[in-house]
Amino acid sequence: MNWLYFSEDMGWKLAAFLLIVSIRYTNADCTCYEPGNYTGRSAPISNSFDNSDFSSCYTPCSYVAYSGDDTRRWGGLTINWGSVEDNSGVLQIFDGAGITGNPLIQVSAGTNVISGSTKSLVKSSQPRITIKYTQMGTGANVYYGVIKATPGLQASTPPITTIAPTTNT
Ligand SMILES: *[C@@H]1O[C@H](CO)[C@@H](O)[C@H](O)[C@H]1NC(C)=O
Repeated sequence: MNWLYFSEDMGWKLAAFLLIVSIRYTNADCTCYEPGNYTGRSAPISNSFDNSDFSSCYTPCSYVAYSGDDTRRWGGLTINWGSVEDNSGVLQIFDGAGITGNPLIQVSAGTNVISGSTKSLVKSSQPRITIKYTQMGTGANVYYGVIKATPGLQASTPPITTIAPTTNT
């Protein structure tokens, strides 16, 4: 037996094994495109991605976008679907910070929303919206879009409390 050849061969096998283990490990990390809540004038919307190689994956995600200014509300949504492997994918936008009631806007996988279309013209009534994406299966959809904070809300003012007059009888 050639011992030099044997040890080199084992070394390659070990290296290949460790590489596979490390790829499997990092592949498990599917990160939401916008993992925390967001404050700004233009909120990015896109698919989850794998930390190791930026390929698309399918973790359900939701986050609250705040316009940073109580006189600004959200509208002008645009969405483009790159590829659709799971038709059950749905993007929902709720008015306010929370997932309650019917969504303000709902977009099914594969349906592009272009500027000026009905869904693009919808505006929130609050400076905060909740953007949520879910799907039933495990195929990775690719999508990207944006929603913008525009002026149009009255700044909320604290309620005026009137003091009852004190009368002498
Ligand atoms: C995002 O905002 C929501 C609603 O205000 C809150 O419940 C949630 O904890 C926040 N998440 C993060 C990561 O800050």
